[in-house]
Amino acid sequence: MNTVSERQIPLLDLKAQHAMIRDEVIPAIMRVVDSQQFILGNEVNQLELEIAAYSSTNYAVGCASGTDALLLALMALDIRPGDEVLTVPFTFFATAGAICTLGAKPVFVDIEPATFNMDMNRVEDALKANPRVRAVIPVHLFGACADMDALETLTRSRGIRVIEDAAQSIGAEYKGRRAGSIGDIGCFSFYPTKNLGGYGDGGMVTTNDKSLSDRLKALRIHGRTGEYLHRWIGINSRLDALQAAVLRVKFRHLDSWSARRQENADSYRRLLSRAEVPVFAPQPAAYQTRHIYNQFVIRCANRDGLQAHLRERGIGSEIYYPLCLHQQECFAWLGYHAGDFPVSEKAASEVLALPVNPEVSAEDIEYVCESIVAHYRR
Ligand SMILES: Cc1ncc(COP(=O)(O)O)c(C=O)c1O
Repeated sequence: MNTVSERQIPLLDLKAQHAMIRDEVIPAIMRVVDSQQFILGNEVNQLELEIAAYSSTNYAVGCASGTDALLLALMALDIRPGDEVLTVPFTFFATAGAICTLGAKPVFVDIEPATFNMDMNRVEDALKANPRVRAVIPVHLFGACADMDALETLTRSRGIRVIEDAAQSIGAEYKGRRAGSIGDIGCFSFYPTKNLGGYGDGGMVTTNDKSLSDRLKALRIHGRTGEYLHRWIGINSRLDALQAAVLRVKFRHLDSWSARRQENADSYRRLLSRAEVPVFAPQPAAYQTRHIYNQFVIRCANRDGLQAHLRERGIGSEIYYPLCLHQQECFAWLGYHAGDFPVSEKAASEVLALPVNPEVSAEDIEYVCESIVAHYRR
């Protein structure tokens, strides 16, 4: 018989986080309400400056979501029907969805087993086989960067642009360089589950290129370049001042929260390496010099059984992602088949995200690890 655990360790505890910052957030929200300035404006400008500095880029442009950040980045690089964009099949839907929204075609390349990120050893062959590829979107999945140097070598000589999908990786570093500052454009999400999450949707695009920044700023307001003057056809994707005000409060805590996540990840690794269980904890590659652990994702045998066992013990977990993008119904027209990306497909059958958020205590992690051991010993 299943018992319901007294103890609850949710995958993410946003209520606990809000309780901690409530006294800072409410006045910030009221400041915007009293100003009645809800769209773009000072709060958004200030946040853009803060995120640009944090990401070591010259420019940052706020927008309505991480999905729109990708869309705007592709639009700014003039990706259009007939173009192809290389990315991975093991990611959140939006990475490939944004490509298709513009009538372009995603071309997938498999991931590395150790990092879950784009396998750069496969990119050259993919570019040779798909000469219409005009841009590559490496995804910095779960909080750690893809191998960007290898990609730069392959793309620069061919004039192919690079958009970093850094939705899950604000503050992550690749060989000491910040996510979002390495490619032509970086895309961030402020979805509430992110390390820097708003009280609703939000996103941001970063770049070092002034002309791209100008274009992105126009594209988010219907391509407007002057009073009732539209040089391009853009979209409506503005960041709300309310979100920017909340994000500016949370931004002050971001580094300490990411540090807590790193400590939690270290504790998991230490405890799981001692336990004799068929579970593999992520080990960052040498080039991933700062992992911000938006998710702590293990690979495990009998994943569904383990997840059910953890649930009985009050422990939240999640599968990111149970089905690769090339196997989604809406991408059948791309012509891929099961087995085409074996590393991604294996990951989809083995991964499980464990609670790593800053509110999780050392005792919680011991309990999660004991529960994992108990599952495999029964
Ligand atoms: C890798 C990745 N790309 C893009 C997105 C899209 O961001 P949003 O949900 O803010 O639209 C997400 C967010 O969930 C993501 O994880």
